[in-house]
Amino acid sequence: MLKNFATEVVQWQKTHGRNDLPWQNTRDPYRVWLSEIMLQQTQVATVLDYFPRFLDRFPDVAALASATLDEVLGLWSGLGYYSRARNLHRCAVDVMALHGGAFPNTALALQTLPGIGRSTAAAIASLCFAERVAILDGNVKRVLTRVLGFEADLALSANERQLWDEATRLLPVSDLHQAMPRYTQGVMDLGATLCTSKKPDCERCPVALNCVARLQGQPERYPVKTRKLKRSAESLWLLWATSEDDAVWLNKRPTPGVWAGLYCFPLFESREALEAAVPASHRAALQDAPAFTHVLTHKDLYLHPVQLQLPASALDALEGAWIAAQAWQVLGLPAPIRKLLTQPR
Ligand code: ADE
Repeated sequence: MLKNFATEVVQWQKTHGRNDLPWQNTRDPYRVWLSEIMLQQTQVATVLDYFPRFLDRFPDVAALASATLDEVLGLWSGLGYYSRARNLHRCAVDVMALHGGAFPNTALALQTLPGIGRSTAAAIASLCFAERVAILDGNVKRVLTRVLGFEADLALSANERQLWDEATRLLPVSDLHQAMPRYTQGVMDLGATLCTSKKPDCERCPVALNCVARLQGQPERYPVKTRKLKRSAESLWLLWATSEDDAVWLNKRPTPGVWAGLYCFPLFESREALEAAVPASHRAALQDAPAFTHVLTHKDLYLHPVQLQLPASALDALEGAWIAAQAWQVLGLPAPIRKLLTQPR
């Protein structure tokens, strides 16, 4: 019954898919790779803002490889999930050093590079080189489990492996040069625009007639996944120190850890610890700004900024440096820190 799945997806993509995003209509692996990394965990609307700026500064893989990690993190600032930026830089360096500056042209070889997993490798190989390989990101898992009525729990790796096999079975079988890029884009587009986790728009779906989940009447039930993400919470106090000439005190976060490699206000686990780091003569001037929540993948952070105005010489004992007013703009900063610094005061 699903014999025509790939054909339907390919036809639908031509007329109803997304075809004018800035990383489309090219088979340049550098652009496709950059966009796929940015699009992991980030909305298209946000990537539309970052992608052209990144390309402008780093027009090719050689330019990116010869940049410093600090500069890459600076341009990435605000996109979140900074391990992506660190891997992006490492990957560019490896493409230059190990592959003569050209991305490998198979999913198998692409997967050996930093930050490129099985699905991203397949996306690049199918979009750029028309290789017959399946992608299986979150959106595509939703589409395929619904169409197939795939009931098995994806928290178990054996079941996930089975879904990979099914995904491969559903791929186009002819005219691969045209069909593979279309199909890969098409299943992603279906997942992003019609086959959404809540209120899927089955009326418009090209494969609705063959969709087991729809015939069962409850497509939202898929994908089946039992294991819940274990979340934790942590409170952190931020020393937001400003000098007479409006410089701010920032230090570079250690690796590994939250915001590794980014420039940040000094962080403390309690207000007492923050006070202890400030010279006694300035403690009375500490001012609590409103606390707020910042959500990370596995953790909710409760952030408590504490402001302090003081002479530039007063923090010499603390790790970090005064960064001149506005100079922090080009540094890689965690999104909540950037927000504090740019909000009107
Ligand atoms: N999400 C991941 N890859 C994408 C792509 N190529 N186009 C749109 N959304 C995506």
